[in-house]
Amino acid sequence: MTTELFLRYIHFISIFAIVGSLVSEHMLLQKELTRKAIAKIARIDAVYGLAAITLLSAGLTLWLGEFGKPAVFYSKNWIFHTKLTLFIVVGLLSIYPTIFFLKNRKGNPDEWVNIPKSVFMMIRLELLLLFIIPLLAGLLSRGVGFFGN
Ligand code: HEM
Repeated sequence: MTTELFLRYIHFISIFAIVGSLVSEHMLLQKELTRKAIAKIARIDAVYGLAAITLLSAGLTLWLGEFGKPAVFYSKNWIFHTKLTLFIVVGLLSIYPTIFFLKNRKGNPDEWVNIPKSVFMMIRLELLLLFIIPLLAGLLSRGVGFFGN
């Protein structure tokens, strides 16, 4: 029970960190930014990446470690698989902005850089998908979507 509580806590804290960092990134983004400002966003993006790893680790342990419900409770639930798929899509969407920030943070700190529209769009899409996932989590935790016996 204590381990499950701890894992749930890590899962939730990671979600807060992910949403917080992504919203901050979005608020700091402008059509043009100095390399210094991009370096700041890249640091926030690192927090986002770290939180995604702790979220995934806690989620996988909750699922496969059987600290709460049996693994099959999740493995045979199509809503759980949809949740995982959305998480993977969010991860894939984050690749381009991350590479862009890492590449453009270096150089003269006062130089201005144009931020491509696609960076804005990817982050907005990630946020949109992130808002759907907790609804799926709430449903599946109550057994909705289970297709086993
Ligand atoms: C951004 C991504 C994610 C969000 C927003 C999210 C959200 C949530 C929420 C809100 C709960 C609590 C559900 C409840 O008690 O009603 C939860 C539980 C859980 N999550 Fe996630 N989750 C995410 C990613 C993942 C991933 C990647 C995994 C697995 C690899 C995972 C596995 C689990 C498990 C096993 C539970 C316990 C469900 C239960 O109460 O039976 N989650 N998640």
